[in-house]
Amino acid sequence: MTISGNAAQTDPATAMEKSIPALEPGRIIAIGGAKGGVGKSIFAANLGTFLARQGKKVVLIDLDLGGANLHLYMGVWALKHRINDFLDKKVAGLEEIAVRTPHGPLLIGGGSSRLGAPNLPFVRKLKLIRAVKKLSADHVIIDLGGDTSFNILDFYLAADTGLVMTTCDPASYMDAYIFIKMGLYRRLARLFGPESGWHKLKDDTVKRIIADFLDQPGNTNGHGIGHLLERIGSEAPSKAYLVKNAIESFRPRLLVNMAKSPSETRDLVTRLRKVALRMLAVEVEFAGALPPDPKVAQSAHDLVPDVAGNPDGVLAGFLGGMCRKLI
Ligand SMILES: Nc1ncnc2c1ncn2[C@@H]1O[C@H](COP(=O)(O)OP(=O)(O)OP(=O)(O)O)[C@@H](O)[C@H]1O
Ligand SMILES: [Mg+2]
Repeated sequence: MTISGNAAQTDPATAMEKSIPALEPGRIIAIGGAKGGVGKSIFAANLGTFLARQGKKVVLIDLDLGGANLHLYMGVWALKHRINDFLDKKVAGLEEIAVRTPHGPLLIGGGSSRLGAPNLPFVRKLKLIRAVKKLSADHVIIDLGGDTSFNILDFYLAADTGLVMTTCDPASYMDAYIFIKMGLYRRLARLFGPESGWHKLKDDTVKRIIADFLDQPGNTNGHGIGHLLERIGSEAPSKAYLVKNAIESFRPRLLVNMAKSPSETRDLVTRLRKVALRMLAVEVEFAGALPPDPKVAQSAHDLVPDVAGNPDGVLAGFLGGMCRKLI
């Protein structure tokens, strides 16, 4: 079982907290980041291929419902079935639309060719999230689109491990910060939703205070999460642990792709971590920095994951280190 939201292992102190289900770190891995073109899909394809080459059962899922292209990066030109077939009940289970890719992982392809495809109604999204959590695999890797729509945030929060990808460009790392902030706010907004591990601990006072906080632009823009914690502390002190737990266990992992010099990367990571801690009380973990690699760029053109054709290359070495740390 997993809790709702990529998270660190919590240390439950009370009987209530013990009812929060345990995590399986690294089983469901989501790759997010609010900017397009930073390398999320190509990274997902390579991470999946890398883990499959290590003998793991891997399912890749393209949940970039507005711009699905993961199948291409996996060398699959035409998809017989897409996620919409599952949502439209043309098939009974997600497994039925998974195809074996030439490089090992199974793939559940997304579909963006229908008007409104990315705008999933809540009930359909819940059905999809539940089906993703039930998939039988060592690792389920979710590729996401580059924005902060509710659907993307909810898919991200459904994962056990959430990566946030950025480059060293200001537009990209500012968007990465916004993605982290929106991820946290969505996690709080959905704290007692049916998809949440805290669902059974629903508390109306906490819910109202969170809703008030998120409704006030002054709170969410200027003062950060401190305001929320103060109010919960004074109006619902016995339930403050719920919100603290939800914040502390939200652990986005920052991944810098096409990183520039080590000093520029270090400055970016240090700044972003500092701001996230001060404004959001969120510990952002640094998952690593990947340099620009002409072989990776070429593999995006050739539609063969770099680690398949180049198992001793820079990307494979990077993934080995990252997986040892995160999975
Ligand atoms: N490490 C890298 N070195 C060189 N080029 C890279 C690297 N990572 C990604 N790229 C380049 O970035 C391009 C965009 O990658 P990708 O499609 O994975 O981005 P994305 O974040 O998934 O975008 P979107 O949000 O639009 O789906 C690729 O075509 C590839 O050429
Ligand atoms: Mg993509």
